[in-house]
Amino acid sequence: MAKGGAAMALALLAAAAALLCAVAALPRLEHPAKTDGSLSLLVVGDWGRKGMYNQSRVAEQMGRVGEELDIDFVVSTGDNFYETGLTGVDDHAFEQSFTDIYTAKSLQKPWYLVLGNHDYKGNALAQFSPVLRKIDSRFICMRSFIVNAEIADFFFIDTTPFQLKYWTHPKGNHYDWRGVAPREKYITNLLKDLDEAMKKSTAKWKIAVGHHTMRSVSHHGDTKELLQLLLPILKINGVDFYINGHDHCLEHISSRDR
Ligand SMILES: *[C@@H]1O[C@H](CO)[C@@H](O)[C@H](O)[C@H]1NC(C)=O
Repeated sequence: MAKGGAAMALALLAAAAALLCAVAALPRLEHPAKTDGSLSLLVVGDWGRKGMYNQSRVAEQMGRVGEELDIDFVVSTGDNFYETGLTGVDDHAFEQSFTDIYTAKSLQKPWYLVLGNHDYKGNALAQFSPVLRKIDSRFICMRSFIVNAEIADFFFIDTTPFQLKYWTHPKGNHYDWRGVAPREKYITNLLKDLDEAMKKSTAKWKIAVGHHTMRSVSHHGDTKELLQLLLPILKINGVDFYINGHDHCLEHISSRDR
């Protein structure tokens, strides 16, 4: 009886929280710049391999460069854990791919992370859990959120739900759409929240971060849903650039029309 009551209360709380999320603006974090107003950061994506695929070697170099640049934080563009995200908050892949890999002193800074499509193939909610932050307080992962770093506002965007094929042709993969489905409503709300937040932003630099490509000449190519739905919002609000992962290569793409 008492147990049932507690479960019911929890369920109600969860429902209330879900409701709040649906109407609230994007979460906003403050990250002060250096005293001289500058900011340094590293960006990494598509990494969680338990040290294999040269992840450990890249981590070592990140440690060196991070120290040279005296970085303020690290940004992850998603695909944090291969192949299928985390199984839950007790998945040791968290330590094996993150805590035990990025051990350099310079990398002991906040990590701001979004999810990639591979993260959605596991328990997507696990990566947002305070349980992980207790294990390693650097890991600050949310769906979509803003980091205000004085000289720059970073808009972290959950891009996986945009890709229609994950919904219509999951090809034997299970995507964890809890808190996301239905797709259209989620995207409409997200774009509205982003537009509002960008309009309010007074930072010198507006930087968007997501997992999927906008444009790319590599394997996955362009993401047409992002070009169609997200790019106009970035343009109209004067976002300076978009940083992404997904295509496992380094590209710098610019356009003449803003
Ligand atoms: C690791 O990097 C080396 C080059 O430094 C490359 O030859 C090798 O194929 C890479 N290993 C994996 C598993 O990607």
